[in-house]
Amino acid sequence: MKSEFLKYQAQTTPHPLAMEISHAKGSYIYDTKGKSYLDFVAGVSACGLGHSHPKVVTAVKEQLDKYLHVMVYGEYIQKPALELTKLLAKHLPAPLESTYLVNSGTEAIEGSLKLARRFTGRSEIIAAKNAYHGNTLGSLSLMDYEERKQPFLPLIPDIKHIEFNAISDLEKITDKTAAVILETIQGGAGFIEPTDNYLNKVQQRCNAVGAVFILDEIQPGIGRTGKLFGFENYNCQPNIVVTGKGLGGGLPIGAFTASKQMMDCLSDNPKLGHITTFGGNPVVAAAALANLKEITESQLIPETLEKEQLIRKHLQHKHIKEIRGRGLMLAAITENEALTSKVILQAQDQGLILFWLLFEPKAIRITPPLTISNEEIIEGCHLITSILDKI
Ligand SMILES: Cc1ncc(COP(=O)(O)O)c(C=O)c1O
Repeated sequence: MKSEFLKYQAQTTPHPLAMEISHAKGSYIYDTKGKSYLDFVAGVSACGLGHSHPKVVTAVKEQLDKYLHVMVYGEYIQKPALELTKLLAKHLPAPLESTYLVNSGTEAIEGSLKLARRFTGRSEIIAAKNAYHGNTLGSLSLMDYEERKQPFLPLIPDIKHIEFNAISDLEKITDKTAAVILETIQGGAGFIEPTDNYLNKVQQRCNAVGAVFILDEIQPGIGRTGKLFGFENYNCQPNIVVTGKGLGGGLPIGAFTASKQMMDCLSDNPKLGHITTFGGNPVVAAAALANLKEITESQLIPETLEKEQLIRKHLQHKHIKEIRGRGLMLAAITENEALTSKVILQAQDQGLILFWLLFEPKAIRITPPLTISNEEIIEGCHLITSILDKI
């Protein structure tokens, strides 16, 4: 299939991994030759319950037997989407109770930026250096990587950048600022956690100048960091929280949640301030609802912190300089880029899925399903250290 894959399916890099997938179950992906791979990546933090979780699959099948797409987002009352937004509201602090469902993380980011501009009547957006919020034009505009943006200029204007964790930069947030958007934990940058009560200070500064504080929880959210939402670890509360990836249980989704008062700006004066055909799709919403119920009703969230400790214990090696991140959102930093790539590629040959981070070439991504067992963690970590031993 490889030549057809390269010919017919648009590519993101000249050298995709091109593994031919047969099926996936629990913590394992199987290729068409019957080889199994222990998954330490979980679809890039998207498959919290692992692969083909029975509760998600059952929810999808039940919905398939009822109906698929019937109408654009927002017009009809469809139980899966309604129940999902209600459950999100139940788990979010007031006044975060109104959720707009879309199809991907980047689309949710776009919606959140529009909402902040519409709500404040201001245009300036402040984002962090080394942030990643997605790849559509608006989300791309938030990035400060000039060489990645250059081919697509001009992007949306009035974007400024601050250094993540730099308190001295907070004065750049002023009464001209519509929104400050940050990842709760910087992902592509190398799983950089906020320090020194940083997010709380950003929140206070936003409150003081009337700017909207948006937190991108697309990667840390839905249980990966020992809390349902990453921001619950850091003594802060955003005005808009953006989720995606792990919310969908393996299906494509994005969501942004705000107060009802704020969200109402998108539906009136002018109406149709944000529209989508497939957002809130009943099959996707049924999967997301089953996924969210299982994650919140089980012990999976607190267990992520125990599993983090297990990974830290078993990944000690002279070539691993540091392990960054929290819970099951971890990055093992090696001495150099070449070593990291060798480990990732050799691990795949030996049946373990690892991956890179976007902007930190020394990082090995370790974001397994929340359902991964202790035995599987130890097995994967031993494989990594045995590869490092031989390099
Ligand atoms: C923090 C963060 N924001 C936004 C996105 C974009 O999400 P999507 O790829 O679903 O558009 C990602 C995806 O990697 C992400 O990690």
